[in-house]
Amino acid sequence: MCVQSLRMDAVLNYLRTHRQRFVEELCAYLRFPSVSAQTAHTRDLRACADWLVEHCKSIGLKAKRHATSGHPVVTASTPRRKGYPHCLVYGHYDVQPPEPLDQWQTPPFEPVIRKGAVYARGATDNKGQHFAHLKAVEAYRKTGVELPCDLTFVIEGEEEVGSEALTEFLKKQRRRLACDVVVISDTGMPSKKHPALTYALRGVVALEVAVRGPKADLHSGIYGGSVDNPALVLAQMLAQLRDKRGRIAVPGFYDDVEPLSAHERRQFKRLPYNETAYKRLLGVTALFGEKGFTPIEQRSARPTLEINGLTSGYQGEGSKTIVPAEASAKITCRLVPGQSPRKVVRLLKQHLKSICPPTVRLRLEEGHGADPYLVSPTSPPAQAALSALREAFGHEPVILREGGSIPIVNEFKKILGIDSLLLGLALPDDNLHSPNEKFDLDCLARGSAMSALLWPRLAMALRY
Ligand code: BES
Ligand code: ZN
Repeated sequence: MCVQSLRMDAVLNYLRTHRQRFVEELCAYLRFPSVSAQTAHTRDLRACADWLVEHCKSIGLKAKRHATSGHPVVTASTPRRKGYPHCLVYGHYDVQPPEPLDQWQTPPFEPVIRKGAVYARGATDNKGQHFAHLKAVEAYRKTGVELPCDLTFVIEGEEEVGSEALTEFLKKQRRRLACDVVVISDTGMPSKKHPALTYALRGVVALEVAVRGPKADLHSGIYGGSVDNPALVLAQMLAQLRDKRGRIAVPGFYDDVEPLSAHERRQFKRLPYNETAYKRLLGVTALFGEKGFTPIEQRSARPTLEINGLTSGYQGEGSKTIVPAEASAKITCRLVPGQSPRKVVRLLKQHLKSICPPTVRLRLEEGHGADPYLVSPTSPPAQAALSALREAFGHEPVILREGGSIPIVNEFKKILGIDSLLLGLALPDDNLHSPNEKFDLDCLARGSAMSALLWPRLAMALRY
């Protein structure tokens, strides 16, 4: 056996030996309610960042919490050496809001292990996934095996709200963060038998729409019939945004969409998919999507418009006979290559203005946005990643597009000029952004083995 594989054995052995402790540490990380969207949690985000800094120090990294205009960014790095490739590992310690709380089997910030998975908000999105990479580095450092790449972890606290502060941070630190590749585990795979390299992400743009009618909620018996009802007005406006064939009915919406090539559509057909299992996973009676496209295409390579939240009037117990003063909706569109968030949101605003009746006042508020992302799955670093996935999971990896968004990948490209390798560890039933989020402990183990195996392969691919 050659020296190299003996060294790798030592690293992988370390990962196996310390599995139980890793789970306990991950649970400590998951106990922080680091919900970036809710200002009440600002201190929790800071405490979580502090924990992360200390943890990174304990595994032999130089770590620091950086103040930003928003939530802090944590960096942790191995010493820089001349002539070695420098790789960034990106992750986010912020999590989505845990609501609705009554739908959690156990509280979202009290992690528990059930059936080989850890359940908690943020378990897979994204604490568990970047934790796998941290453990791989720990294994190298604690076994004294030389890392073939210099690594810098950049772990932010605002991914779930658009990564604005991190963009500023990248601009300021572009020299220190100059690197050869960015590695990100914040996507998914179809199953543990289908580890995946993701080569495209959809972009996103958010818009809040509110319509205001009377100056206060009114008695619906006394005044109803003589004034318009903002809830109905909004419902009618929203209902016009999509047609029966599942197309978004905003003029110009599809103008810049790059069509899918016949080759790519053939590749999609080879991905594992079973309609009955998919319906069961989601708990729906029937699927719905844009006609002429398969569900895989609809959810990863076609643009969409979704209502994420809808509010008006009385929501409490029993009934209350009012004409509500206001109704509002939170909307996001997912975008594909060719589309720009600015243009799409402009088209959407124009259209909403044009269909809003004069009986209400319309208020439109733009939110975060991110460009779509597409990268070659055949580059040497991508090949290195596929090889690491194959060995760690013991199965042939697939390459795919994902429908979710990771806003910062475009900034890595724009500011550092570097593409990201997306090596997701989430499973389809991990409940990202839903109640009962979980992370499979086998994915943690295989993910950290994949990370350990990746660095020598990447060093070779980057030809140092
Ligand atoms: N990890 C997800 C993105 C993701 C999930 C990509 C699954 C592919 C497959 C990330 O944390 C996320 O949720 N991003 C947000 C970004 C938005 C708030 C700007 C998203 O996609 O909704
Ligand atoms: Zn997320």
